Amino acid sequence: MSDPWPRSARWTSTGLAVGGLAAADLAERFGTPLLVFDEADLRERMRSVAALFPRVAYAVKSMTCAAVIRAALEEGLDLLCASGGEVATCLRAGAPPSRVMLHGNAKTDDELALAVRARLAAVIVDDAEELDRLAAIARAAGASQPILLRVTPEVDVQTHEAIATGHAASKFGVPLAAAADVARRAAATAGVRLIGLHAHAGSQVLDVDAHVRVLRALLAVVNEAGIRPAILDVGGGFGVTYTDETPSALGAVASALGAVLDVSGVHAQLQVEPGRAIVANAGLSLYRVVTRKHARDRELVAVDGGMSDNLRPALYDARHDMAAVTPGDGPTERVTVVGRHCESGDVVADDVALPAGLARGDLLAVAATGAYTYPLASAYNRFGRPAVIGVRDGEATLWVRREDVDDMDRLDVILGSPWEAGGLRTAEGGTRT
Ligand code: LLP
Repeated sequence: MSDPWPRSARWTSTGLAVGGLAAADLAERFGTPLLVFDEADLRERMRSVAALFPRVAYAVKSMTCAAVIRAALEEGLDLLCASGGEVATCLRAGAPPSRVMLHGNAKTDDELALAVRARLAAVIVDDAEELDRLAAIARAAGASQPILLRVTPEVDVQTHEAIATGHAASKFGVPLAAAADVARRAAATAGVRLIGLHAHAGSQVLDVDAHVRVLRALLAVVNEAGIRPAILDVGGGFGVTYTDETPSALGAVASALGAVLDVSGVHAQLQVEPGRAIVANAGLSLYRVVTRKHARDRELVAVDGGMSDNLRPALYDARHDMAAVTPGDGPTERVTVVGRHCESGDVVADDVALPAGLARGDLLAVAATGAYTYPLASAYNRFGRPAVIGVRDGEATLWVRREDVDDMDRLDVILGSPWEAGGLRTAEGGTRT
C-alpha cells in the first residue's frame, strides 16, 4: 500500500517526527492548526515528475505560496495559473513570465490583458468567444499571444463528481465536435499563435487509462484539424494516496502516454500539469484536541481546526489518514474527529481508530493535506487561516504566517472608521453609544 505520509515522517518512541523535528515541538513553537511541508520530499516529487515528462507545469492552485512556487521553479517546473491573482502571486514570487501559463473557463478582459502585457508563455483558451477577445486585446497591444486551445475530451473518470472536468457536459473547454473547427480558426487568427492543444479529465484520477483517452482525444482533433501543434497538454489530475488508494505510478502514466504519442506520428511535446501529485503527500496538518464528548452513538473528539483549514472532507466527503502524534501501543477506540466550526458537516475524520482516551491537549496529525487545503481555506467563524511551515534536516522555516483577527478585519472598511464618535444607529433612527 502506498504511504500517504511525507517521506521523512517517522514514529519514534516520543511520537511523530517530520523533517527531523518532533511534531510536538513544531506545534508548541508555531501553534495549531499547522500545515507542515516536508521540503525535501516536496522537491523530490518535483524533480521526479520533471524527469518523467518532457514539459511539466505545476498547478499553482493546489498550494499557492511563494515557497512552493519558488521550489517548483528551482526544480525545473513551469507554472499553471487558474486566475490573474495566481499569475500576480507567481510573478511577485519571482517567476519569469516565460514560465507561466494561464487557464480558466471565464477569464475577464483584465486577466487576458494581464497575460498579454506580462508576456506569459501561454494562455489556455477555453472557447471561441475568448479566442476572439484575446486576439483583439493582443492585436491592440501589438502582440501575438501564444495559446493552447482547451478541448473537452469527453472522457468520464472515476472521481468525485465535483472534480471531474472532461465529460461532455463540462463547463471547461471547446466541445469535442467543434474543436477541430475552432483550432483551425485559432491557427488563422491574427493576434494569437496556436502552439498546442489542452485537455484535463479531472482530478484525483487513479487510473492510467483516463489520461491515455485524453491524449487520444487530442490526437483525433490534431488529425481532423490538420494542424501541427508543438505541445499536447493532457492536464493534471494524477491521483494520490489519502488512506488506502493505489494510484498508477507516474512513470507508468508517462510511458503509456509516450507510447501512444510515438505511434501517432504527431511530433508534439507532451505536457502535464500536476498539482496534487506534487504537493498532497508532502504536507500534513497538526491539530490539538480541545474537548471530547460522548454523543448518542459515537465518541466525538473536537480539535482546534476543521473546515476553514481543510474543506475537503466537507466539500468532497474526502477522507485523510489520521494518527495521534504520540501513538503509544495501548488499545484504540473508534472516534469521530470534529472541527470547531458552527456546522455539523465540519467533520475532520468520521469513525477512525485512534489511541483510546485521547484528551484535551493531545495532538493529532492528518496526512496528505498538502494539496487543496490552504488555497481553499477561509476566515469562516474568524478562526483565521493556519500557519504554513517547511521542515528539512532538523530546521523549520515559517512559509506563511498565521492569519489573525487584524488580518481578517483589514478589509472591513466600516470597522476601520471610528463608530464610537457617532454611536451605533438604532432601529428607531437614534443613536446608542
Ligand atoms: N490542470 C487543470 C486544467 C486543472 O483544472 C487542475 C485542477 C489541474 C491541472 C491540477 O489537478 P491535480 O493534478 O492537482 O489533480 N479542490 C479539489 C481539486 C480541484 C482540482 C481543480 N483543477 C480537491 O481538493 O480535490
